Amino acid sequence: MKAVLCKRFGPPESLVLEELPSPRAGAGEAVVSVRAASLNFPDVLMIQNKYQFTPPLPFSPGSEMAGVVKEVGAGVHGFKPGDRVLAVTTYGAFAEEVKVDAARLVPIPAGMDFNSAAAFLLTYGTSDHALRDRGQLRAGETLLVLGAAGGVGLAAVEIGKALGARVIACASSADKLEVCRQHGADEGINYTTENMREKIKGLTGGKGVDVVYDPVGGAYTEPALRSTGWRGRLLVIGFTAGEIPKIPLNLPLLKGSSVVGVYWGEFARREPKAFAASIGQLGAWYREGKLKPHVSQTFALEQAVEALKLMAARKAKGKIVLTVGA
Ligand SMILES: NC(=O)c1ccc[n+]([C@@H]2O[C@H](COP(=O)([O-])OP(=O)(O)OC[C@H]3O[C@@H](n4cnc5c(N)ncnc54)[C@H](OP(=O)(O)O)[C@@H]3O)[C@@H](O)[C@H]2O)c1
Repeated sequence: MKAVLCKRFGPPESLVLEELPSPRAGAGEAVVSVRAASLNFPDVLMIQNKYQFTPPLPFSPGSEMAGVVKEVGAGVHGFKPGDRVLAVTTYGAFAEEVKVDAARLVPIPAGMDFNSAAAFLLTYGTSDHALRDRGQLRAGETLLVLGAAGGVGLAAVEIGKALGARVIACASSADKLEVCRQHGADEGINYTTENMREKIKGLTGGKGVDVVYDPVGGAYTEPALRSTGWRGRLLVIGFTAGEIPKIPLNLPLLKGSSVVGVYWGEFARREPKAFAASIGQLGAWYREGKLKPHVSQTFALEQAVEALKLMAARKAKGKIVLTVGA
């Protein structure tokens, strides 16, 4: 089977495609024939040894995929060969076959194609945990989403609307803001050409926003926090801008506001019941048509380098998916 391999840390161009023996399922494991694997920003960081977790070399990048169960190991109940499944794998998904802890498998909801399934759990899961659990976002509140046309950002826009919030999307181009509007955003701000703080003041009648969803960091975080109202919540998701911002602590003091960390992977490990409930809610919203994974581009597995270069260059909209096998 073919796999994209990171044999030395570096930019996407340093990845290679190689033929490897098929993995075999051990006890409690399953082997999945991958049909689609989606890109996430941590893939770009992990291959450069810049992520919070580093797999041992060599490894295949790719943190989530969808496919068909090929084989299950001893003690696996609830899944059998032929089942359509999706899974978040942390790494290893950019391959024709992947060995996964069976506890990580999730059945693909009826009617969902492989590309959408591969683009579903990590982004919507993160944004659901962030907005409902960590951010306590309520109907009628105003949500500001930074990097709103990206993977987790667009998921936050849709979940914000599903919860009855007013959603203000921030992105770096008119094209990206248009995608946000198509997915429900009420307002858009191009934060590379417009004054974000002034625009938010105008849009909220000076009151400020209730919740900020921030997967970007860098120079965007502080003005966003300054744009929150009384008891606002800043959700710390990630730092695609490259710089981890340092925040003056008088800002939360003056607003009675909170800076709230979000770590979805650790939430899944530590709180399995709450995690399962979140997946259940996401499945229900999907069936009701409230969540529509936006797969903007697909590439063959062999074109993984090209796809990762687009994401690293800030050019991805929604999700990019690698299609694999049949
Ligand atoms: N905390 C958690 O549990 C958790 C879970 C999943 C992901 N994350 C984090 O969330 C972040 C976003 O992940 P994603 O997969 O949604 O990424 P993505 O699809 O690439 O979206 C990220 C967005 O960041 C913006 N951005 C600003 N400066 C950038 C730069 N220099 N390079 C690239 N993008 C830049 C881009 O929007 P504009 O061009 O419009 O600014 C882009 O759309 C990552 O930091 C990831 O590690 C965290």
